[in-house]
Amino acid sequence: MSTNTASEGFQRVANAKDLKEGGLLGVEVQGKKVVLAKVNNKVYAMDAVCSHEGGPLEDGTLEGYNLTCPWHYAVFDVRNAKVSDETVWATDLSSYPVKVDEQTGKILVSLQKQGQTQQTGAEETVQQGKSRQASLEELQKGYYQEEDRKAGQKQQFQLLSKEQVKGTDIMNFKLNRGGLDFKPGQFAFFKLDGVSDDPKGPIRHFSIASSPTEQDYLMISTRIRSSPYKQRLAALENGTTIQTWGPQGEFVLQEDKPAVFLSGGIGVTPFRSMVKYATDKKLPTKIMMFDSNRNEQNILYKEEFDRWAEQNKNFQAIYTITDEEKNESSKEWKGERGRINKEMVEKYLNKERLDTSMFYICGPPGMLNAMQDLLKKDLNIPKERIKVEEFTGY
Ligand SMILES: Cc1cc2nc3c(=O)[nH]c(=O)nc-3n(C[C@H](O)[C@H](O)[C@H](O)COP(=O)(O)OP(=O)(O)OC[C@H]3O[C@@H](n4cnc5c(N)ncnc54)[C@H](O)[C@@H]3O)c2cc1C
Ligand code: FES
Repeated sequence: MSTNTASEGFQRVANAKDLKEGGLLGVEVQGKKVVLAKVNNKVYAMDAVCSHEGGPLEDGTLEGYNLTCPWHYAVFDVRNAKVSDETVWATDLSSYPVKVDEQTGKILVSLQKQGQTQQTGAEETVQQGKSRQASLEELQKGYYQEEDRKAGQKQQFQLLSKEQVKGTDIMNFKLNRGGLDFKPGQFAFFKLDGVSDDPKGPIRHFSIASSPTEQDYLMISTRIRSSPYKQRLAALENGTTIQTWGPQGEFVLQEDKPAVFLSGGIGVTPFRSMVKYATDKKLPTKIMMFDSNRNEQNILYKEEFDRWAEQNKNFQAIYTITDEEKNESSKEWKGERGRINKEMVEKYLNKERLDTSMFYICGPPGMLNAMQDLLKKDLNIPKERIKVEEFTGY
């Protein structure tokens, strides 16, 4: 170990015994979040905040040198913090030099970027030849196939049709399905050509709103607002090719437990897929959906949900509108009013349903926090029975 530890800016961050082989450990170096990884008895350090949307990489999974983000599965090489070619929605992060003091068993990290060590982030400089050899070994062991599986298949789809939902800024887009296999509730990444001026780049994730039982198309729905990405999406001609990665995500219907869906606005997209699937497959799974929207026009897929509720005795939809003003269009509204709260949930769900159901929350971040508080604090639902899909970006 160098005797210049302090002058090189190395700081003690952990004890070697706290980091097991194949393990990850989140630490802070001068206020910066860093994740340590131990592979083949070497310690590596890199940024812990995912470059995509800030996922906590210390909670990710490490397989070989590949660290997978827990949120949307971007894959980083812990040796140099570079993102995999397959998970293009994230960008490269920084790696940092590491030293382990063999006598004291302390792990030290420096944020200084200098010399060869800084480029690898490794405990010791990795030789170029060695590194190449390791890559070959990884290929043989199938690490990259595994990486591909996690990132989902890279595929191209053509736009079949698009339609604006009357009275809203929501548009539905149908793409040719091309045999894509997915589970109801999963999402995919969609990259558009010709989007060079969007600060968030040319890729967004959207839930697949169609069901695996709808063989002929994939559907996504989104609000068309100001971003160059959305403007380009709205203007696409039928037949345009869209690059996608997917399917991904664990926000999927658990068929063996009754389900309660709590949806806010556009967050209803994965629930359309799940309800249609349960109805077509005649699943015995009981589903109660609470769907909150500003006004009646904004209740997406309402006609379809109402039709499926008639066909599927296990499915019930409760709609609530939150616009304060009782304007002309909402005067006739006979459904619920106001945000989803304890009283509303208990009005429709008895104790047995509350005690046995899986709860699924989907929507923009603000709604998500409110619903998590409702379930955990007001209704005492344990976190093991709560699944959450956050529409980051809204
Ligand atoms: C797993 C996952 C699944 C997702 N699925 C979907 C989906 O099915 N459908 C979908 O639409 N999105 C979905 N999203 C979100 C999606 O990826 C985009 O982040 C989102 O649509 C915003 O897109 P945009 O950045 O192009 O902003 P735009 O929609 O163009 O909005 C422009 C800006 O306006 C802001 N804005 C937000 N709300 C308002 C408002 N009420 N009034 C004015 N401005 C506002 C936004 O913050 C944004 O910065 C999903 C996200 C995740 C993580
Ligand atoms: S936050 Fe890491 S992949 Fe999205």
